[in-house]
Amino acid sequence: MPKLLSLSRAARLAGVSRGELQKRIREEDLKTFEGELTVELLLRLYPHIDLEADPMLEKVRRIRAEAKPKTHFSDGWMPDPEVLMTRLKEFQHVLVQTKAALNNSDALLQQTLDDLNAAAQAPEEQLREQLLRCSANLERAMQRVERAEDARAALFARDVMLKIVSASIRLLPSGHEFFLEGSDSILEAGLKAGLYIDYGCSSGNCGACKCKVISGAVSKLRSHDFILSAKEQEEGYILACSNTAISDLVIEAREANAKEPLPHQNIRATVRKIEPVGDDLALLFVQTPRTQSLRFKAGQSVALTTENGNRAELYIASCPCDGRNLQFLVERAPGKGFNDTVFAKTMNKQTLTIDGPMGGFVLREDSSTPAIFLAKGTGFAPIKSLVEQAITIDNAERLQLIQVGGNPPGSYLDNLCRSWSDSLDNFAYASPDQDCSAGHLVEMIQQAADNMNRFDLYIAGPQAWLSSVTVKALARGFNTTYWYCQPTD
Ligand code: FES
Repeated sequence: MPKLLSLSRAARLAGVSRGELQKRIREEDLKTFEGELTVELLLRLYPHIDLEADPMLEKVRRIRAEAKPKTHFSDGWMPDPEVLMTRLKEFQHVLVQTKAALNNSDALLQQTLDDLNAAAQAPEEQLREQLLRCSANLERAMQRVERAEDARAALFARDVMLKIVSASIRLLPSGHEFFLEGSDSILEAGLKAGLYIDYGCSSGNCGACKCKVISGAVSKLRSHDFILSAKEQEEGYILACSNTAISDLVIEAREANAKEPLPHQNIRATVRKIEPVGDDLALLFVQTPRTQSLRFKAGQSVALTTENGNRAELYIASCPCDGRNLQFLVERAPGKGFNDTVFAKTMNKQTLTIDGPMGGFVLREDSSTPAIFLAKGTGFAPIKSLVEQAITIDNAERLQLIQVGGNPPGSYLDNLCRSWSDSLDNFAYASPDQDCSAGHLVEMIQQAADNMNRFDLYIAGPQAWLSSVTVKALARGFNTTYWYCQPTD
């Protein structure tokens, strides 16, 4: 068990989000050590970490569902993952007791040594009394060892379990940390964690994801066409898209930081599905080829051009963690060729060219303050992407989404928003009426911001609506320094 735990690892051990842990540290005014905290501090914050409520079994079920075809489990030489996890939990129980006994034995040895030293110093007539005291102390301490169970030991055992089902990866020089689960590649796990690791094809052809293993062990998931020289291999270079971690890793990898623009890309992609969202909006699902993903930041847009020249600039409505499966929100706009073909559904299965990404309406990822997201119409596209990124990086203390007009009940988007608020303790969702006034929205922001010293507000929608909300907010005395606005018309 390391003496110091990173925030990500500590949050996983306690079974809480990073945002909640940061909030507790702030509320209790506790000092961390360069962003890391001690086991004792974690136990002070969460003294009753419940091992029985461990979400690991559920996690294994999910990993198995996603990964079974790609692993050796199907070859029959390994037990079923659930059987494996049950056996591991048995070992965990033994481990907790052994570790606790060891902790107590250390204390017992020290106590016995102190007692014997005291006896050695005692006058001869008190020697027997001293030795009897020493013997009584020893007996009491041995009973404690037999009943040994302590919180440090339980935490140690949980850490071991977490290491078995997932590997922790630290990137240099940024210090970003994330967890790799199942048989994900290092690149997939990094993207799922909301990081902007350099990559191109994600299939071992381009070499853009080349990184250097500083410590830990990796395993190749697939052979790749890109050739690493003998010297590079000797120095520990690997392709992040073609390797997984089999132990905790430290690697040197190139990453774009949140402020740095990503390279311009031109990708041919296919329209996979068009789903109506009420009468006047449609969700467009676009997929890039297997060998080319779009690198973008949440909140950015791209230009889409059809084969017959219809073009539209649209905000990406999906998470940057999946650069192959992209979503866009398109509004009904008679006379606009691109939009008309979406609503006539003639665009289905067509090939498009994607150019981008563009725009700087992106998440302030270094901010851990609560974030409020306000959207109207197609403004929900960049806001949805920002919310998905904020949930992924798990940095903000609280997230509030206000979507004017909401989504049709039972639709994919409606189910998605409700699943966020059902499954995340720190997430709230509200959908006021389409014609809700700017004054009412400002009141909702006021309520959401109650008790918050500072919050970031991201707002996207039609220019006129956006202006009326900000004017009303200024008139009510809001400090709009941390308001980030994006008109979408
Ligand atoms: S992303 Fe192209 S080789 Fe890994």
